[in-house]
Amino acid sequence: MMSNTASVSDAGHTPRPPVLLHRIFRGVDGLLAPYRQIDENPARALLSEQALVLFQSMSKADRAHSLRVLHWLQAQGYRQPDLLVAGLLHDCGKAEAKLAVWQRTLKVLLKSFLPRAWFWLARPAAPHSWRYPFYILHIHPQLGAQKALAAGCSELTAWLIAGHERRPDPLHPHYPLMRALQDADGSC
Ligand SMILES: [Fe+2]
Ligand SMILES: [Fe+2]
Repeated sequence: MMSNTASVSDAGHTPRPPVLLHRIFRGVDGLLAPYRQIDENPARALLSEQALVLFQSMSKADRAHSLRVLHWLQAQGYRQPDLLVAGLLHDCGKAEAKLAVWQRTLKVLLKSFLPRAWFWLARPAAPHSWRYPFYILHIHPQLGAQKALAAGCSELTAWLIAGHERRPDPLHPHYPLMRALQDADGSC
């Protein structure tokens, strides 16, 4: 059953930084991540035991990013639990492959400037293929949604994760939650 508890605060939306600038920031952050301490207590406070295992399967850089997403949402006034859990787990599908910073950056560049090349690169690939990281980057929202459901998360959380990189439908009843997740993701 899809949860009906999709009430959100009427928090405003902070404009996102330009996508390439954001990717550069994320790249530098990813390189520094192994040397940083992160406080995972906010994740422990929100996630079930199983969901926390899923959270901890992510790279340190992705965990740090997800904690920033959670903090951003909370700072904007969002309290909806399915949304906050999705904020923490939206990128958990990426843990399926070891993803280098340059591969993540190439995805952003190709998606922005050469989308056909991106779809060629990201088509289905076997785990031993050099293209596997790109395939996982491409499908990480759907993969993450499956993992979240298997870890006992709600259908609404899984729906938010599955759609976090697609253009949201403004007519969908949970559009405000999807928009909040995408704004948070684009800002952190
Ligand atoms: Fe993502
Ligand atoms: Fe993200």
